Amino acid sequence: MPDGADTALVDPRFDGAPDRRGTNCVKWDAMHALYGVPPETGLAMWVADMEFRPPQVVLDAVAGMLDHGVFGYFGDPSRYLAAIRWWMAERHGWQVEDAWIFTTHGLVNGTAMCLDAFTDPGDGIVLLTPVYHAFRKVIDAAGRRVVECPLPIVDGRYVIDRAAIEAHLTGGERMLILCSPHNPGGRVWTRAELETVADVARQRDLVLVSDEIHHDLVMPGHAHVPMALLEGVADRLVMMTATTKTFNIAGSHVGNVIVSDPALRARLAARMAAMGSSPNSFGLHMATAAYSPEGAAWVDDCVRYIDANRRLFDDRVNAIPGLRSMPLEATYLGWVDFEGAGMDREEFTRRVQRDAGIATNHGPTFGAGGEHYLRFNLGAPRAVIEEACARLERAFADLQ
Ligand SMILES: Cc1ncc(COP(=O)(O)O)c(C=O)c1O
Repeated sequence: MPDGADTALVDPRFDGAPDRRGTNCVKWDAMHALYGVPPETGLAMWVADMEFRPPQVVLDAVAGMLDHGVFGYFGDPSRYLAAIRWWMAERHGWQVEDAWIFTTHGLVNGTAMCLDAFTDPGDGIVLLTPVYHAFRKVIDAAGRRVVECPLPIVDGRYVIDRAAIEAHLTGGERMLILCSPHNPGGRVWTRAELETVADVARQRDLVLVSDEIHHDLVMPGHAHVPMALLEGVADRLVMMTATTKTFNIAGSHVGNVIVSDPALRARLAARMAAMGSSPNSFGLHMATAAYSPEGAAWVDDCVRYIDANRRLFDDRVNAIPGLRSMPLEATYLGWVDFEGAGMDREEFTRRVQRDAGIATNHGPTFGAGGEHYLRFNLGAPRAVIEEACARLERAFADLQ
């Protein structure tokens, strides 16, 4: 293992994750109902939250609120906005202004707000699939049309290819939603790939929503490029980022929707005002604390730990004939292709859920191209990853 991956092996902050069962967390407490995997004996490796406590600076912020004990309306966002500006500049080389920042009730809500502000019922919304499943949910619910452009796979990884996108466009599209870095494939798109997407958006006159919620969880050796750093795209660009994946505080439900273009901003502001949308103060205090040097140090350690997890997972899963784990460049979401196992989807899913007792996200929910896949959440103590690998080896022992 390279430097860093080793030290992460014994990190009590990540090795000693608390038992979450019985806390009303969806990952463990809805697992049986959704997947038939009992929480007493099963492993929850589905929805994208990690098993780890957030950094102490975030816990202290919440403790400070509890100590005070009065939970009134939030006011004066200046510290919160300054923290966002600092983080984007320090960690991503991207200068943002306070006036560009909208705070939504998370980024699924941010996506829904963008659909409402920038498109009309019946409009086509372009997705490069497979992709984060909630995009489709909100697009369908809003009466817009999903236009799927399956991502080609080259050398075992998804790639963005102009012809592969354009082959599916018919002219009725108004928006393209990009997931960058990519969930579920774990790609960190190159600048050239991002240029391709920006170019398609310009030529087809699409609003470009770049969901960069996973931008902080980038594995060593890869560098994320914020779409906002590209030339000539600002007039159609909506950037979405959040503390929630980075610091494992998804329940705080706060998202940053960052728009530099004044005309787009005016439309979004009008729709958000019409919906009476405002975030909760716990989320704002947690985000303010998280976007800090202490938060940054924790993220660096967390990424090293995830990197060691995914190396272990890839080595063991790829050693099972017929299974192939896509190499993760970012995120903690392992994407495993079962097509080579020579069995249908019901059979490999049954083996993973019933025989191995592991709840994962099912590939087809991510759209075209996800049919033979399951998504495994690797944001867990190393012992859980080892146990999952051992269970998969047993469940697919006949392939050895
Ligand atoms: C790409 C992407 N966007 C958005 C979300 C969810 O965002 P939120 O919890 O802020 O609604 C996720 C969660 O996994 C995600 O992967």
